[in-house]
Amino acid sequence: MTPQKSQFPILITFLLLICVSLSRGQQHTWQEAFKALGIAWNPDGTLERTIQIPMVDPTPDADTKPAPTALSQDIQLNYKSKAYIRLYIPINPPKNKKLPLIIYFHGGDFVLFSASTVIFHNFCNDIASQFPAVVVSVEYRLAPENRGRDPWMEYADFSRVFLLGSSAGANIAYHVALRALDFDISPLQIKGLMLNQAYFGGVQRTQSEIRLKDDPYVALYVNDVLWSLALPKNLNRDHEFCNPISGGTYLGRVFRLPKVYIKGDFGDPLVDRSILLAQFLQQCNVRLYYRFNQGGFHGIELQNTTAAQQLYNDMRFFVNDMYENLNSEDLSHHQVIRLPSDDDKSFI
Ligand SMILES: *[C@@H]1O[C@H](CO)[C@@H](O)[C@H](O)[C@H]1NC(C)=O
Repeated sequence: MTPQKSQFPILITFLLLICVSLSRGQQHTWQEAFKALGIAWNPDGTLERTIQIPMVDPTPDADTKPAPTALSQDIQLNYKSKAYIRLYIPINPPKNKKLPLIIYFHGGDFVLFSASTVIFHNFCNDIASQFPAVVVSVEYRLAPENRGRDPWMEYADFSRVFLLGSSAGANIAYHVALRALDFDISPLQIKGLMLNQAYFGGVQRTQSEIRLKDDPYVALYVNDVLWSLALPKNLNRDHEFCNPISGGTYLGRVFRLPKVYIKGDFGDPLVDRSILLAQFLQQCNVRLYYRFNQGGFHGIELQNTTAAQQLYNDMRFFVNDMYENLNSEDLSHHQVIRLPSDDDKSFI
């Protein structure tokens, strides 16, 4: 077992802690949700994270023991704010051919985790080595235009940029793609967008949210609290950052998006949101490829190597314009029923 992987049980313990704290009783309070998330609310109104998630250093040197699957380094972007990106390249990048550039937005419900969290670090290592690709893992609040002037960037083909996000990172990737449509970001050309188990929501509940409301990973009441933390004050979950098909400034640009890959799992309460977005993208004639698996759960690829490999394969095909293994048929027959929410006023 590598030192990196040996930290994994700590994360599992953390997730179990969440499961245990969620399984008590039906009615939940804000305080319980905060406790489950490891967030303490100070009397002055500020928030404090009480649970530390394992982080790892980058591995810039191939001679590191144990041998890394890809090379990585942190590039400080702003000394004052400590903003940085973590940049990855394969161990032996090709000399005669540039690689696609993947800009990755990690998960964590907007308030948790970092680009150096061990699970996301391993995810990026796998992508860089398997695609192969140059990967930029972005800390939140950074624009993707902040590409470092690093020699490793010489390996990247700026005309083949893909945005990739998991969970809350998928929401960010989606909105970055929409915003980028109106900016000249040359020489960057965004060729595609990959949304893995996006963390979308909305005021009306979907079937999957109701069916799986006490889910151990993304329980409905915890999502509600997370959304009320993440959204600007006085906005509800039908704001476009949360519910991308409810309206808002960017809806009219959707038809101009590049090709999109969407991954979801029917065991994840958030799956219906991804299906609704997928149906909407198809209505807007966006080139859509998708996979919706039976079973599974939110974050399955971080725990199950078979599921992770399937996701990597899908994304590798998508990035390299090979579509034979990817679904693209019409999803409009798939019915997702939305029900009114009875508890909104308690949270917003
Ligand atoms: C891992 O994921 C695969 C593919 O989604 C699934 O068939 C398998 O049952 C999962 N394994 C476990 C231990 O959950």
